[in-house]
Amino acid sequence: MFIERNVSLQALNSFGIAARAGTLVRVRSEDDARAALAHPALAALPKFVLGGGSNIVLTGDVKAVVLKVEIPGRRVLPGAARHHIVEAGAGENWHQFVQWTLAQGLPGLENMALIPGTVGAAPVQNIGAYGVELQDRFHELDAMDLRTGQVFTLNAAQCGFGYRDSVFKHTPAEPGGLGLAGRALILRVRFALPRQWKPELGYLDLQRRMQQEGVSAPTPRQIFAWVVQTRRAKLPDPAVIGNAGSFFKNPTVSAEQCADIIGRDPKVVHYPMPDGSVKLAAGWLIDACGWKGKRLGNAGVYERQALVLVNCGVPDQPATGGEVMTLAKAIQTSVYERFGIRLEPEPVTVPG
Ligand code: EPU
Repeated sequence: MFIERNVSLQALNSFGIAARAGTLVRVRSEDDARAALAHPALAALPKFVLGGGSNIVLTGDVKAVVLKVEIPGRRVLPGAARHHIVEAGAGENWHQFVQWTLAQGLPGLENMALIPGTVGAAPVQNIGAYGVELQDRFHELDAMDLRTGQVFTLNAAQCGFGYRDSVFKHTPAEPGGLGLAGRALILRVRFALPRQWKPELGYLDLQRRMQQEGVSAPTPRQIFAWVVQTRRAKLPDPAVIGNAGSFFKNPTVSAEQCADIIGRDPKVVHYPMPDGSVKLAAGWLIDACGWKGKRLGNAGVYERQALVLVNCGVPDQPATGGEVMTLAKAIQTSVYERFGIRLEPEPVTVPG
């Protein structure tokens, strides 16, 4: 284990926000994690677990000890009757892992290609795209209790997955008391990939591609390529323009509330849900309020997708976390004033 002091986090968060960590430890194994927790100089200090940094907003220098998870490893485990079980270390790059599963002839993750971040961060916000969420392919994970160093295993039910949500986003102080935010370091994740693979083609973007290319039964690799191309066309590459993907969750409203909005704005993009509620496209709502391409300081709204906030600064003078949050609040206010809907941010805000 190697302890680094006064480390710049600018290259370690996809927004490219300039902030520093007083102490950073690169965790490359379960033993490293245990050693960091037991280290006399670190044991009593609060910890902050950092994965790929693709879903966080740093609002200042991080005072907690940053545990940067870099645990490697990918393997196929003896499978169950209906699934192949595949395990990856929490530090593996998500997209490379998806590619690797396809190279092993084990499809099932292709709709989630090109999502930035690490395998260990994927369950935290239950990543999802083009009709598949992590919870649909999840088997279980091993994590370390940051207070005791004990390793424990959670199945899907215990992870409490919801739309871009899990127990890892809630603090123990919240109702129910089951939250694990700040309590756990995810070490490894195991996936259950169906032996009887079926393509997930419900999304309009994928339907369009099938028509354009005259393909009625695409292979997993074709779906992978279409998702990669669609994401590249719509979303900014964090290596070029700093961002954290969708900045707000798509809100859910009642059928009556939706009918009311349609009455005033017939074009509102909405998706009826099985339980009778309706999901609205937050990107459309923000766009309708005129935010696309707008800037506040060095924080901006991406000109091709209003749901994505971007860092318009240069590396020497990037957006600050404060500017990003000020812009986010201004967007929330205008969407609330026009539609009566409170947008909920998707990334985790890291206090300074
Ligand atoms: N729209 C606009 N203007 C905009 C943006 C969107 O009118 O500026 C409209 C689009 O035309 C479309 C609708 O809103 O009709 C929805 O947009 P899109 O299909 O781009 O998907 P999304 O709802 O914005 C969600 C996820 C993405 C995921 C895609 C594909 C959330 C918060 N976002 O985006 O996830 O890749 O669907 O499945 O659920 C992420 O979480 O970081 C992320 C990128």
